[in-house]
Amino acid sequence: MNTLVKTAGSWLLVAVVWACWAQAPQIRQAAAVETKPVSAAEIRSLLATSCVSCHSGGQAAAGLRLDSMAEMAKGGTSGPVVVPGNAGASLLIQRLVTSDRQLRMPLGGTPLRADQIATVKRWIDGGAVWSATAEDRTAGGIQKHWSYIKSVRPPVPSVNGGSAKSD
Ligand code: HEC
Repeated sequence: MNTLVKTAGSWLLVAVVWACWAQAPQIRQAAAVETKPVSAAEIRSLLATSCVSCHSGGQAAAGLRLDSMAEMAKGGTSGPVVVPGNAGASLLIQRLVTSDRQLRMPLGGTPLRADQIATVKRWIDGGAVWSATAEDRTAGGIQKHWSYIKSVRPPVPSVNGGSAKSD
């Protein structure tokens, strides 16, 4: 009897240890997904699906176009809607999370899911980079904090004739 209890006890211990060990990689993986930078393509497709129907072209609602970085950077009638590096200060996020149905975007539509909003927040907090090209990063003049701008090694000037003089 005593042995039975002991055996059961050790099996339980083994099971608990195994369960913890088995969970660990999943937990680590979840954390990695959370901190992974958001791809601009993901944001573009989200905006295209939920926002661009009203926020594009000459008749864009509130003068806000969300179909290109340059246009988004111009903002709408209230001014800039994205503050790179600061999701909390970005009007775009405020209009996604508000519980006021008169203000919540997409206007009159189904609100974005919590994970979609979290993705947009992370994108803005990560610097709101629209695409990998330098042209798009500067287009529209969103002033990024220097720490969000990728450093680029300037090309080394070629020296004609092969010998460098130090005059
Ligand atoms: C059905 C049309 C419609 C859709 C879809 C829509 N909006 Fe709007 N949006 C409006 C209208 C109309 C206004 C102007 C009135 C107002 O400010 O509420 C507006 C205003 C805004 C503003 C304020 C702009 C400013 O300068 O005042 C933001 C930010 C915004 N929308 C973001 C979004 C985002 C992000 C999405 C997608 C998740 C979206 N909207 C989807 C109609 C829409």
